[in-house]
Amino acid sequence: MDISKLAAVNSPKSKMINHEDTQALHIGTLDKHCYFVPFAKGQDPFQSRENSQRMELLNGDWGFRYYDSIIDLEDDFIHEKFENTIPVPSNWQLYGYDKPQYTNVCYPIPFDPPFVPDDIPVGVYQREYCYSHDGMDRVLVFEGVDSCVYLYVNGSFVGYSQVSHAAAEFDITPFLTEGRNIITAAVLKWCDGTYLEDQDKIRLSGIFRDVYVLSRSKRRLENYIVKTVLGENGSAVLEFTAFGCDVSAKLCDDDGVTMAQFSAYDGEKAKVKIDNARLWSAEMPYLYRLTIQADDEVIGEEIGFRDVKVEDGVVKINGRAVKFKGVNRHDSYPDTGYYASYEQMKADLVLMKKHNINAVRTSHYPNSPVFYQLCDRLGFYVIDEADLESHGCVEVYYDYKWDYSDYRGIAMLASDERFKEAIKDRAKCLVKRDINRPCVVFWSLGNESGYGENMLEEAKVIKALDDTRLVHYESTHCLDGTSDSILDVVSGMYWDIDSMKGYLEKPEEKRPFVLCEYCHAMGNGPGDLEDYHNAFYSNERFCGGFVWEWCDHSVPLGKTAEGKLKYGYGGDFGERHNDGNFCMDGLVYPDRTPHTGLLEVKQVYRPVRVTKGKSADSFVFSSTLEFANAGDVLDCRYEITDKNGIIDIGMVDICIEPMGSTEVKVPQAAGEHEEETFIRFIFTAKEDTEYWEKGYEVCFDQLKIADGRKAVVEKAKAKVKAEETPLCITVAEGDIVYRFDKRKSAFVSVRIGDRELLDRPLQYNFFRAPTDNDVMKHNWYKVHLNDFVVKSYGCKLAVREDSAEIEVSQSFGWSIQQPFCKMTAVYVIDGSGLDIKCKAEFSDKIDMLPRFGIRLFMPKAFSQVEYFGYGPTESYIDKRQACYVGRFAADIGDMHEDYIRPQENSSHYGCRYLTVSGGDTKVKFTADKDFSFNASQFTQEELAAKAHNYELERCESNVICVDYAMAGVGSNSCGPRLAEKYQLDKPLINAHFHIQIGKE
Ligand code: GAL
Ligand code: MG
Repeated sequence: MDISKLAAVNSPKSKMINHEDTQALHIGTLDKHCYFVPFAKGQDPFQSRENSQRMELLNGDWGFRYYDSIIDLEDDFIHEKFENTIPVPSNWQLYGYDKPQYTNVCYPIPFDPPFVPDDIPVGVYQREYCYSHDGMDRVLVFEGVDSCVYLYVNGSFVGYSQVSHAAAEFDITPFLTEGRNIITAAVLKWCDGTYLEDQDKIRLSGIFRDVYVLSRSKRRLENYIVKTVLGENGSAVLEFTAFGCDVSAKLCDDDGVTMAQFSAYDGEKAKVKIDNARLWSAEMPYLYRLTIQADDEVIGEEIGFRDVKVEDGVVKINGRAVKFKGVNRHDSYPDTGYYASYEQMKADLVLMKKHNINAVRTSHYPNSPVFYQLCDRLGFYVIDEADLESHGCVEVYYDYKWDYSDYRGIAMLASDERFKEAIKDRAKCLVKRDINRPCVVFWSLGNESGYGENMLEEAKVIKALDDTRLVHYESTHCLDGTSDSILDVVSGMYWDIDSMKGYLEKPEEKRPFVLCEYCHAMGNGPGDLEDYHNAFYSNERFCGGFVWEWCDHSVPLGKTAEGKLKYGYGGDFGERHNDGNFCMDGLVYPDRTPHTGLLEVKQVYRPVRVTKGKSADSFVFSSTLEFANAGDVLDCRYEITDKNGIIDIGMVDICIEPMGSTEVKVPQAAGEHEEETFIRFIFTAKEDTEYWEKGYEVCFDQLKIADGRKAVVEKAKAKVKAEETPLCITVAEGDIVYRFDKRKSAFVSVRIGDRELLDRPLQYNFFRAPTDNDVMKHNWYKVHLNDFVVKSYGCKLAVREDSAEIEVSQSFGWSIQQPFCKMTAVYVIDGSGLDIKCKAEFSDKIDMLPRFGIRLFMPKAFSQVEYFGYGPTESYIDKRQACYVGRFAADIGDMHEDYIRPQENSSHYGCRYLTVSGGDTKVKFTADKDFSFNASQFTQEELAAKAHNYELERCESNVICVDYAMAGVGSNSCGPRLAEKYQLDKPLINAHFHIQIGKE
């Protein structure tokens, strides 16, 4: 429906003619240019931009009217009453208008480009603006509006702009009158740009970034380009081109010492040579300061000297091969939606630095311009990505059939002539704004939009604007046969490691390779970080990867009675189509509390790794720092421990050349050790920085230095009494009485004195609350690993003088199919406790057994846990880099990782023993090989049943699971299937558990 034609001639509504026109992208806007905020002559231009006398921030409450449909918008909506207000910047769905929708791939609207539904929701924003004539122009800047904006001043139409994550600037001077003026911005939820903004995120709308007015001289600096060229012998050249007017400039180092002063004439390139230039890198982000004087304005620009090149298929920064230890980051906050304040961005980046992350991909659109300044200062390599994704085409092309063998449909718009200009425009918005940022090392064409003529044209736009960075793009499925050879880097997502190896074997492919997304961090995971790390470091042509993704996305649904935020995800907002909790796949919770996955990242991305040297007292320290000497950044101490605690501590002096290694001697490590003994090297920050304090623990490495002697379970001499009735066996040893129920084929009671240890019969356990990575969970439910019945084939009691032995044979299954497990178990009760040996044979109908072990429901009073194994945080066979072997104690109430969609959590891998105590009674678990356990207030059934953490109800018992083995967690929610080495060794398992009960 042509809205404008329905409206009265020349009415504000009649101007709404651009949002379904793919050729009308920016009307009445200023040309795109590099980001800067001018200050008045005499001001320090390096202070925060809000202090500029030339900038007037218009953030704050604006009048607001929301319309479900553009059809309902009045012809002259500008003169309606604006009784309600909304904060700018924000998203209106967070303020009760409309509703959020979480959709990943599927478009939120019918696929009918360039048309959008007739009923487009609209938010009209209005505020006053006071103007007094001073000869300067007024430029109104919107840094981000989703999805497009029609702008009016005093009722007159000023212009239109789309591309949500690009700045739109309007010279409003001709529309202003002395005194009070009215600015009105009508924001549409959808426009033809919606087809190019199908990023996987909760879909929100509105003015979501800062809005401000700049007062600018009539003749002024419109744009400038900074380029740094590294020369011989440490020299470097700064090339500077100004557009709009002549300028004079001064370059200072970061101590304020002037390095050069020069003039630059409008449109001409000025060159300044610096000797002994200090280079910029993520590790040493040295910035010079360029003060640009233009007429009566002054502009501060931070300059990083660095270059980015590909040499022999290797990405090099300043001549050195680099690895990106990266993450993908979206703008997403539970309280501010798409808006990221300076403080929020800085807090994100500081947290990344603290976790050894050195690179960010701005998935999948340009971030606030301030974000890149922060990256320059703190030190990050950035893949800066154009605001472009048309993933939804895949669904359209295949008519809802998910066909992995042919993904080409994704490229429908990539070769659709109607979208060529719009796609090229997105590259311009990206490169022109961020061209001066040293942190940007790759430009990315966008995400998941397929490849074709339009993408090639987009890449050409980038190359024409900037020849100092590499062009990156992942989605090269193509419908029109266009070659992707213009891309400088080959990029993949979620490739398994074998495919990466295969890449190196292609003789025709000479380009470097990056995993722009890997280790999908959804829920409990990722479990494969270390394996990818090793793959990256196996060849210089791999330049690292970017974990998907930084944060969980959520819009909160209110608070619980206890004041806990109820995090909502897809489906919680009443959306018709939604993709559930797939937006909960971050390394941090929505409020930025780290997931344990982030701790893994921190450890895998660590700057120093330690391995054993040639002799018992020697260790090899290897650095993955590419520019800094590790000894300049880190201090190191060690502790030697065994199960009784710390035996020795000391300091180690380190000096490790970039990417080098060095041998370190610790004589104390070489001695005789009776017990299993470990050495742990702990690396701490040498100095305070903007992101950590001196002494902050950056990483560690633990190595075993002695196996110790094998502990033998002492068989205490004891008298055992046993009694058998048709359905029950009772065995007593001292004051401990065990009761075995033959019909249930289980111990139903274990008492010490008058204290019962079991609230429910002791069970075998084959199930875990599926993690997000357990994509095979439907099989588990089908086989009924979670709710089986036990069949007993017979039970034999043998009583000896100091022991009793019960042997049972049984199976576990449900209706319809054969039992999924057949087992013989031998229980021996003697003075050392209850010994369980079982042989289990599993059906081949099970797709990846999640665990095998025993489960005890113990009275609540048994609340204290101590273990010697991988802690202190949750650990799995493939997710334990952040843990080390030690003796840890905890209250069961604290042993829960609160994933927003509840799932298996808080297991501990590699345990030598576990004790669970309540008062003076202690139950000790051991096995003949290291085991895993969970101790929780929640049952696996409860965790599996509830969709949100705030719905969880505690069990009336404490639940102790002792596992012969617990499967790894992997990252199969989007990544490859769990590697075989992290699966259980089905079909035959011989397990052993020993339970010892005693008084303290
Ligand atoms: C990728 C995509 C991301 C995200 C991720 C799954 O395919 O680029 O935007 O959707 O998968 O979480
Ligand atoms: Mg996508």
